[in-house]
Amino acid sequence: MENKEVLIKVDKLQKKFDVGKKKLTAVDDVSFDIYKTETLGLVGESGCGKTTCGRTILGLHKKTGGHVYYEGVEVSEIKKRKDIKDFKKKAQIIFQDPYSSLDPRMTIEDIIAEGIRVHFPKMKDAEIHNRVSELLKMVGLNAEHGARFPQELSGGQRQRIGIARALAVEPEFIVCDEPISALDVSIQAQVVNLLIKLQRELGLTYLFISHDLSMVKHISDRIGVMYLGSIVELADKESIYGEPLHPYTQALISVIPIPDPDAGIKDRTPLKGEIPSPIDLPVGCKFQSRCVKCMEICKESVPPLKEVKPGHFVACHLFD
Ligand SMILES: Nc1ncnc2c1ncn2[C@@H]1O[C@H](COP(=O)(O)OP(=O)(O)O)[C@@H](O)[C@H]1O
Ligand SMILES: [Mg+2]
Repeated sequence: MENKEVLIKVDKLQKKFDVGKKKLTAVDDVSFDIYKTETLGLVGESGCGKTTCGRTILGLHKKTGGHVYYEGVEVSEIKKRKDIKDFKKKAQIIFQDPYSSLDPRMTIEDIIAEGIRVHFPKMKDAEIHNRVSELLKMVGLNAEHGARFPQELSGGQRQRIGIARALAVEPEFIVCDEPISALDVSIQAQVVNLLIKLQRELGLTYLFISHDLSMVKHISDRIGVMYLGSIVELADKESIYGEPLHPYTQALISVIPIPDPDAGIKDRTPLKGEIPSPIDLPVGCKFQSRCVKCMEICKESVPPLKEVKPGHFVACHLFD
């Protein structure tokens, strides 16, 4: 990355949910920067806190600790109604499930126009109609789709509507929360390529969430690997795939299907066991119960995330 201007700074972000009398730690002291116009991939098994992290950054969940800075401004300290509205316009989300995230009673045009009416109140109906047609074309559909209802479209087309809806308000930053996970494998690449094209054309910044390392490879500049609410490794994509340092990252990479079945099979160390409960976190490293390289110290103290090579961060006692 040459342009290293920080758009979003996440600093010791924490989100705990109340579950009965206990606390569930979904996001636990997470820190990273997102640079302007990059894609930061956020990867980890289901339940590790990716969605909560993305939503808390956007202010859709109230954080219970830490800070999120958008262009240097603490998001939770934005108080004027106009400024809150402006942040909501700049920072959008694309949801995982293109079936449940679109209101079946609304036409595609109304779904896309909703945000335009909120954020561009002066726009006339004819202008909005033209803008919706333009957005439909931008996402690879055509103006005629505007009159249809979500259930008349395929999964891939619906996700294109989800993308058009996010783009409609002219955002700078989009949390893409598993936007291809619910889609047919055959159309996943099309949607990823569309997101890449739009990013280039519009100068967008993405946080791209996925439970599968192979899905973020193509689109990401850097990748953060999450386990039980914590970032355990963060580096540029080449380093994550080429020299993963954390045993968890290594395990995730080893289960990616390899096109050549003879290649690297002997090095495969798939994960064993289940993720521990985020309600009763273990003392020490959270990954200890599943780690093939667990040492005594891992049961005693939490390894901090530290930079072991320029731009390559890992939280593991093997690198103390
Ligand atoms: N609204 C909520 N209330 C209580 N617990 C929640 C809530 N949302 C998520 N969680 C819990 O937080 C943890 C992280 O969930 P989530 O962020 O959805 O993970 P991911 O997106 O990585 O699958 C999970 O244990 C989940 O059950
Ligand atoms: Mg999720």
